[in-house]
Amino acid sequence: MENQLVIVLDFGGQYKELIARRVRECGVASLIKAGDTSVSELRKLAPIGLILTGGPDSVYRDGAPRCERELFELGIPVLGICYGMQLMAYTLGGTVEPCAVSEYGRQKMTVDTRSPLFAGLETSQIGLMSHTDQVTQPPRGFTAIAATDTCDVAAMSDEGRGLYATQFHPEVENTPNGSLMLNSFLYAVCRAAGDYNISDYHTRMVREIREQVGESHVLLGLSGGVDSSVCAALLAEAIPGHVHAIFVDHGLMRLDEGDEVEAAFKNRKLHFVRVNAETRFLDKLAGVVEPEQKRKIIGEEFIRVFEDEAKKLYDEFGEIKFLAQGTIYPDVVESGANKSATIKSHHNVGGLPEDMSFKELVEPLRGLFKDEVRALGRELKLPRALVERQPFPGPGLAIRVIGEVTKEKCDTLRVADAIFREEVARLRRKPDQYFAVLTDTRSVGVMGDFRTYGLTIALRAVKTSDFMTCEYMPLPHALLGRASSRIVNNVRGVSRVVYDVTGKPPATVEWE
Ligand code: XMP
Repeated sequence: MENQLVIVLDFGGQYKELIARRVRECGVASLIKAGDTSVSELRKLAPIGLILTGGPDSVYRDGAPRCERELFELGIPVLGICYGMQLMAYTLGGTVEPCAVSEYGRQKMTVDTRSPLFAGLETSQIGLMSHTDQVTQPPRGFTAIAATDTCDVAAMSDEGRGLYATQFHPEVENTPNGSLMLNSFLYAVCRAAGDYNISDYHTRMVREIREQVGESHVLLGLSGGVDSSVCAALLAEAIPGHVHAIFVDHGLMRLDEGDEVEAAFKNRKLHFVRVNAETRFLDKLAGVVEPEQKRKIIGEEFIRVFEDEAKKLYDEFGEIKFLAQGTIYPDVVESGANKSATIKSHHNVGGLPEDMSFKELVEPLRGLFKDEVRALGRELKLPRALVERQPFPGPGLAIRVIGEVTKEKCDTLRVADAIFREEVARLRRKPDQYFAVLTDTRSVGVMGDFRTYGLTIALRAVKTSDFMTCEYMPLPHALLGRASSRIVNNVRGVSRVVYDVTGKPPATVEWE
């Protein structure tokens, strides 16, 4: 039986995947569709609720995304968020005007707890606001159900018609009770049964991979990290015997990692190929210092290696048109999808060359966040050690060696990183990601009465659930001290160790 479905209509905001994910977290299947999806198509999908996302536009601008009035007359509950609220108000005859004072960030608001949206909450709440327009007059039949100091209609509803809207963003962590509000919309308003879980996603993906690929063979880029491993397991189940997993050892792996990945995949139901390509990658990176350029070179070189491997498989399996990757949602947003700014080109998205020989990508995890991928990995019965592994970026140590990448620098970093990871591994509560960075700063030191002018290693450990934002982890000083003295004593050329205490934003997890 199909799951009940909530459709997220995309009007160009940054948070559409986050909204879809929050809905899944509440136990309801979600699907993102373009904001201009026709009402007849929506009717066919028979959703139990619709959520209109935010967006950067102003409803009064020519060419701003609009929707049909009928959308609100389907008898299906609708929740409009930010631009989605303004669009609802505009379409149904309310008034939207520029704010006298734009509101950005966490705002105090008062909510009407008699509304099903806010049932069980305190009247005083915090909501994340980010708007320059606002509803000043709700449409007929609506009442204001929340207000801030400068926004009288911070939320509105027409309970009789099941129409709700919030100017703030309930989907983000900065609205502390936002998930409860979404939960109330789903269960109290849309009457959800809560019939979705990750095993439904598993079943759907197996079906969709079969539909996409048919009888063809697929080449999978396998890094041994969580994402590509989960992708491999899904593919092996969906199209057994048709998956060629190519593990490219680019020489930018952590200590002993290449052998560990090979051991983990050697005896699985896939055709596993290890390609030793250290020289090839390091030659391409010689002299390159700019992070985006490094990422693009690595992204391209991965594809060139995959193409070479596909050629080798040609005689036995014919042309391989499909390239599978474990791309997940944060890779997609940060690489500048959906017209958002490029923060860094994740090697498997923004780093792909335009002229690659593969015709189609197979990316079954593209809509998921890291913790959902892990849940799927557990569902697929992958070994715990693999599923719980901290993420390691495709470009590997190349983006942790600041400046030009050389084998010597990678070797130095590998040893320092292994020491730090060994120390952190003793902790009961481990950070979500932790590693060492080889900076390009030299500093003066003294060792055995002699002056040194050595390298600086930076240590980084972060806490995060989605890797889109993070906080630095306050590691015990004793641990940092031990790691520091082990590193300077055992890693040649290193004379200083520092600890990175920045979150994301304003920094990012990786240094490059
Ligand atoms: P940033 O540095 O963007 O990292 O805050 C967020 C998460 O993504 C990982 N990362 C990557 N993963 N290819 C990947 O597979 C990449 O190009 C890439 N860049 C960053 C990073 O390790 C962190 O977990």
